[in-house]
Amino acid sequence: MSTFWSVWISVITLAVIFGCTWLLLATRKSQPHQETTEETLGHAFDGIEEYDNPLPKWWFQMFLGTVIFGVLYLIAYPGLGSFPGLLGWTQEGQWETEMAHAEENYAPVFAKYASLSIEEMQSEENASGLKMGQRMFANNCSVCHGTSATGAHGFPNLTDTDWLYGGKPATIKHSITEGRMGGMPPWGAVLGEDGVRDMASYVLSLSGKEADADAVARAKPQFQALCTACHTADGTGMHALGAPNLTDDIWLYGGTFEKVAHTIRTGRNGVMPAHKNILSEDKIHLISAYVYSLSNK
Ligand code: HEC
Ligand code: HEC
Repeated sequence: MSTFWSVWISVITLAVIFGCTWLLLATRKSQPHQETTEETLGHAFDGIEEYDNPLPKWWFQMFLGTVIFGVLYLIAYPGLGSFPGLLGWTQEGQWETEMAHAEENYAPVFAKYASLSIEEMQSEENASGLKMGQRMFANNCSVCHGTSATGAHGFPNLTDTDWLYGGKPATIKHSITEGRMGGMPPWGAVLGEDGVRDMASYVLSLSGKEADADAVARAKPQFQALCTACHTADGTGMHALGAPNLTDDIWLYGGTFEKVAHTIRTGRNGVMPAHKNILSEDKIHLISAYVYSLSNK
């Protein structure tokens, strides 16, 4: 916060507090008598008359109490512009203390699992490692992959055996730790609109769907020229590049003619965020074991 805004906020806050206090004291003083009287101000509305009495003592004292509380609070805690408060309390500080406390409690538990391999955790008697992994998955991954990890449009299903990058324990762990970035280039400009539609027919024919035979024949040589570097000559994909298998009927971006044509025309760039700076290595280990368990029952 700049000094100007800090001063601006402080001045307004203090002015309001002391202004209200002054108003309270000033009106109290200006009242001629401090005791309750029967005298009215002469206003009456709907049978209600206005008396000329001072505020009740308890009310007055409570008001002073709130002012004192407010001032003490602003001295102790952050509230006046950028003044940090004498107690040195911060949101981040509190969060860090709680996190450190949690780490301290859970470190021995995590350490136990760090010494087990992902395969070993699958056969653990009460599967408590997998259950911990599942809870962490729900907190960190389900927004994109779904609570049951079955994915959604653009977010891969993690419960089947169809992998973009591979389903070995180390590969899954790598996907989570370092993140992944799918790079499917756009082909609209290269192929032209007719070429894109022919190519969509060809891609659908790879997974045994009905497709126009002439279009398939026209696109085949172009597929061999343009697509095989990543998807391989028979279209089964390549884990090293995250290029999906096009011969099964499992689609990341949808398997209708229009959706496939859209993918080819404009390309796709799915991003799996890296989690190495978000989750500790031990946590990633547990989550990896859980993800591995989903397709290795
Ligand atoms: C912001 C959304 C998002 C979040 C959060 C996210 N993912 Fe992903 N994840 C993706 C996308 C998108 C892909 C596919 C990347 C691509 O298209 O190349 C992916 C890919 C993966 C893969 C590779 C799948 C394969 O077929 O090879 C794994 C494993 C994975 N995610 C696990 C996780 C786990 C575990 C978490 C939680 C720690 C997580 N993801 C959190 C979006 C996300
Ligand atoms: C540079 C490597 C590369 C080339 C060349 C390439 N692709 Fe891809 N393709 C990918 C990757 C990587 C993905 C996954 C994108 C993602 O995860 O976001 C993909 C995805 C796709 C998909 C979506 C599959 C699904 O499950 O939804 C289709 C369809 C496709 N490619 C067709 C083609 C066709 C047809 C060509 C040739 C004209 C081609 N690709 C050329 C890398 C490539």
